[in-house]
Amino acid sequence: MKAVVYHEYGEPSVLELAEIDDRVVGSGDVLIRLAAASVNPVDWKTTAGYLAEYAPVRFPAFAGSDVSGTVVAIGDDVSDFQVGDDIIGAVPPFVGAFSELVPVAAAVAAKKPAGMSFADAACLPTAGLTALASIRAVNPKPGDTVIVNGAAGGIGSFAVQLARTAGARVVGICSPGSTEYVTSLGAEPVTYGADVTSRLPRLEPDVTSLIDTYGGESLKDLVALAADPLRAVSVAEPRIESLGGRYLVVAPAGKDIAELAEAVVSGQLRVNVAQSFPIRETRQAYERLLAGGVHGKVALDAGEW
Ligand SMILES: NC(=O)c1ccc[n+]([C@@H]2O[C@H](COP(=O)([O-])OP(=O)(O)OC[C@H]3O[C@@H](n4cnc5c(N)ncnc54)[C@H](OP(=O)(O)O)[C@@H]3O)[C@@H](O)[C@H]2O)c1
Repeated sequence: MKAVVYHEYGEPSVLELAEIDDRVVGSGDVLIRLAAASVNPVDWKTTAGYLAEYAPVRFPAFAGSDVSGTVVAIGDDVSDFQVGDDIIGAVPPFVGAFSELVPVAAAVAAKKPAGMSFADAACLPTAGLTALASIRAVNPKPGDTVIVNGAAGGIGSFAVQLARTAGARVVGICSPGSTEYVTSLGAEPVTYGADVTSRLPRLEPDVTSLIDTYGGESLKDLVALAADPLRAVSVAEPRIESLGGRYLVVAPAGKDIAELAEAVVSGQLRVNVAQSFPIRETRQAYERLLAGGVHGKVALDAGEW
């Protein structure tokens, strides 16, 4: 079996394609033949060793976390899936996912709708689930305004659309090169940087909430705009708690992946694959994400190794 692995923590250059023993299915898992994957910041952070203190990997370590593919074996205690099902799954990044065969816990898997591409499917788990959790936390309603900081990114792209579907007005904070894209998602774009609050449109303070996916210098001023600090959430910056807001850590669940997939099929949610790389170029895909300016997601095609 081929896999993208690393033997030490470091830059994307530590990633390499290796031939290793097949991975096997465990109890509660399905084993899939990988069709597509996507890359997330947590992948390069794990490979860099930033999470080593509380989620260490075992070397050689598999890279990656978000996958789609076809079930080839079923573990004990799995009743929701059958061999031959196409599924979407989230694998903890310290377990790793970019291998020809991937064990995926059935609890964090969902069936891929027939009309959805494997690439779109693989872009949903981490970013989509985080956006969904953020939306549930701020609970937008028609008449509300949601500020999404980092609106053009993986999470931001989904959060903007979900808030719009809930009927809210959305202000999307993004880079100058992303304003057109953020507009296409349904948000009013505002460029990030110093004095961002001075560039915001007029807001109704009693109905404003914040979804932050970046943190940074502006966080304090952005939290202050929320009607109630509990309607200011960050998935990027634990420091928000000291500002009165809430830091969210996502707990992936298969039923939530299914909800996102349904939203895609019904046309409520669009997956924007900014760029797709062959899986042997995972290193370049990490570098693309690190370079910034990605609109939506970076995908990996595992059709050929
Ligand atoms: N807490 C959790 O459970 C959880 C779960 C998943 C992810 N996360 C974290 O959430 C963060 C975002 O993930 P993602 O997948 O959305 O990453 P991403 O796709 O890289 O998006 C990040 C966005 O932030 C924007 N940005 C850069 N500088 C900014 C600034 N000064 N002000 C505002 N926005 C700025 C980027 O825009 P440009 O590229 O155009 O500059 C980009 O669109 C990551 O740190 C990730 O690790 C947390």
